[in-house]
Amino acid sequence: MRAAPGAQLAIQDIFGRDPFIAALWRVLDGNSVRLEAERRIGKTSILHKMQAEPLAGWEPVWLDLEKVHSAAEFAEQVSVDSGAAAAGRGRGCQAEAPSRE
Ligand SMILES: Nc1ncnc2c1ncn2[C@@H]1O[C@H](COP(=O)(O)OP(=O)(O)OP(=O)(O)O)[C@@H](O)[C@H]1O
Ligand SMILES: [Mg+2]
Repeated sequence: MRAAPGAQLAIQDIFGRDPFIAALWRVLDGNSVRLEAERRIGKTSILHKMQAEPLAGWEPVWLDLEKVHSAAEFAEQVSVDSGAAAAGRGRGCQAEAPSRE
């Protein structure tokens, strides 16, 4: 594996995290999750891996919340961006809040 600071890793290069991801899916079955941790610890990589390899019955949707500033805007973004998933074809939604720099 080559080091590529700042680059999005290929899914097969996202190492480990499987027990944590399994725990996240269990929690998401009934709750929301907020991932908060130090910079560069691997939060976004975990979301990418969950999106690429969802649990059966889930349809992850990636939303960039950088331009969203209210609950109403968030609901609108979910509706627009998730399309068929929001209409009930799958379940679930992933969103990544902007990082605080
Ligand atoms: N599970 C992993 N396997 C291999 N490399 C990883 C893993 N998680 C993180 N990395 C490495 O660390 C870098 C930062 O990961 P990532 O962007 O997921 O972190 P982050 O917590 O979202 O960071 P930020 O707080 O800056 O948004 C990646 O580009 C990769 O090089
Ligand atoms: Mg990140």
